Amino acid sequence: MPENVTPVPFLDLTAQFRELESEWLEAVRAAGSRGSFILGPQVSAFEREFADYVGVKHAIAVANGTDSLVLSLRAMGIGPGDEVITTPFTFFASSEAIDVVGATPVFADILPDSFNLDPASVRRCVGPKTRAILPVHIFGRAADMDAIMEIAAERGLAVVEDCAQAFGSRSGGRVTGSIGTTGSFSFYPTKVLGAYGDGGMITTSSPQIDEHVRRLRNHGAVKPFIHAEVGCNSRLDEIQAAALRIKLRSIDAAIAGRRRVAEAYDRRFSGTPVRRPEPGAAGAHVYNLYTIRTPRRDRVRQLLTDRQIGSSLCYPQGLHLQDVYRRLGYQPGSLPVCEQAATEVLSLPVYPGMPDTHIALVCDTVLEAVG
Ligand SMILES: Cc1ncc(COP(=O)(O)O)c(C=O)c1O
Repeated sequence: MPENVTPVPFLDLTAQFRELESEWLEAVRAAGSRGSFILGPQVSAFEREFADYVGVKHAIAVANGTDSLVLSLRAMGIGPGDEVITTPFTFFASSEAIDVVGATPVFADILPDSFNLDPASVRRCVGPKTRAILPVHIFGRAADMDAIMEIAAERGLAVVEDCAQAFGSRSGGRVTGSIGTTGSFSFYPTKVLGAYGDGGMITTSSPQIDEHVRRLRNHGAVKPFIHAEVGCNSRLDEIQAAALRIKLRSIDAAIAGRRRVAEAYDRRFSGTPVRRPEPGAAGAHVYNLYTIRTPRRDRVRQLLTDRQIGSSLCYPQGLHLQDVYRRLGYQPGSLPVCEQAATEVLSLPVYPGMPDTHIALVCDTVLEAVG
């Protein structure tokens, strides 16, 4: 490695932390002085502000994004004997949540350029045991919710939107998380709206689901030490809510910062063999990840690594082919669009404030490798 090469991180969370540090530390001190650390005034205020941003009646803060999926499914009464249709091209938590409630994931294929669920494939998967569809707005790109909601309405299915990677994205003019029966969000630090630890949120306009999830997240308690059902401990900390409230105020600028990087990549890759991610209609993509396709993926990744440029392989294998799902009986070739994507995708660095010099270095290296 020549000494003069600038390492390009996959993302830089420290710059944003430095900007918000003093305001956040002040909020941490205030929480300490109040002696209020979990589900206090910061969490309540954050829930209201979050619901307003997404455009729903209720937002319920939980401990992480995985719990937001599990508790959504539980609140809808989905469990053993039920099937939930989802995408195989996502982080494992999306389908894991279906298993955790005792239901069975059914994988539909994806579209090759948005990497989102293919509504035609979803339609073919609907059967007598189907209770819900769980679309994932993958990489920050909203799925085709009009088509998914149409199938759900025809067949009387619930829709759980997995918005973990897609805070602020829009589908058909609506903010994702406000379209399905529930929306699930993760505040894992690398997300578009990320905390300084774990966190998650469930959105819904159903008062019944709101009430049920609030009970489930706190051991099924209806009042102190009185338990109506077995729930769990899935609560958000005050200091995480404080950080998220500060970040929410400038989230549109942060998303614009991600789009600026994506547009720069789009321009450089236009007319080259690099297949760019499909941006969709205005507002559809918030670029939690900028994911290209190339048959020379492994070569590109190696050259990036050699030059200390970060990249991420999301995802190297469709979930339907993972060992854990062998019992479901999928074979290589079952979901060909997903399987082909898994051999060609590579996610490039993208974060608000990414320097132009780094963007140029990434593009030069990718184009040299695909050459
Ligand atoms: C698509 C998707 N769903 C769910 C999750 C789970 O979120 P968490 O890590 O907060 O539990 C993630 C997190 O990476 C994700 O990317």
